[in-house]
Amino acid sequence: MSINSENDLKLLKKIGLIVSQVLKEMKKQAKPGMSTIELDEIGTKLLEKKGARSAPKLTYNFPGSTCISVNDEVAHGIPSNRILAKGDLVNIDVSAELDGYFADTGASFQIPPYNQTTQRLIRITRTALDRAVHSARAGVKINQIGKVVQETAQRNGYSIIRNLGGHGVGSALHEEPNFIANFYNEKDTRILKDGMVITIEPFVSTKANFVIEKSDGWTLVTPDKSLVAQFEHTLVIQKGYPVLITEL
Ligand code: CO
Ligand code: CO
Repeated sequence: MSINSENDLKLLKKIGLIVSQVLKEMKKQAKPGMSTIELDEIGTKLLEKKGARSAPKLTYNFPGSTCISVNDEVAHGIPSNRILAKGDLVNIDVSAELDGYFADTGASFQIPPYNQTTQRLIRITRTALDRAVHSARAGVKINQIGKVVQETAQRNGYSIIRNLGGHGVGSALHEEPNFIANFYNEKDTRILKDGMVITIEPFVSTKANFVIEKSDGWTLVTPDKSLVAQFEHTLVIQKGYPVLITEL
């Protein structure tokens, strides 16, 4: 969506805060021995308490309130009786709606004990998000986001998942502008404008550069089991500059 009023911004920030709080709480409570459906249940209850509705459930009839993806699972992981183990790389993606406004956030983290390989991947992905958010200015091409993400990943020896990216958000979970790539596409001439609400969500990988769908019809995995981290923010361009709607 494109924000037209103070009220738009206020309501967007309200749902942005909710998804951020839900993600933070789920991250905090994720422990070895817990199933991903138990973890999702925490999200379900919190969203309910705040009066918000799970966006993937509402929009796509996703079988869960949040997406929880473990290890080689990259996105759209279905909450299940899979048990979280020590050292697992976990991604939680929380998107929800309140009063017709949608926000979307996500984060990857490791269940302790930490190992340097996974921690470094997480850290660089987070840096890629921060740098891309900073570069998102009115008048700049949308492909600037992919350029910054790709440069950050490649400089550190990582790859980009090319078939996952950011998107417009706000009055729906996914809307115009469609697909904001995490790589530089010189043919993409779209321009960022004031009021535009988008997500930026780098998917940085140790090797793979695309994901495939599992037979469950939802879960996206790397074909070679390589690890992927993702961080996601919803933001709006205001007076030329990026303003975060979600925060970790
Ligand atoms: Co998301
Ligand atoms: Co998203």
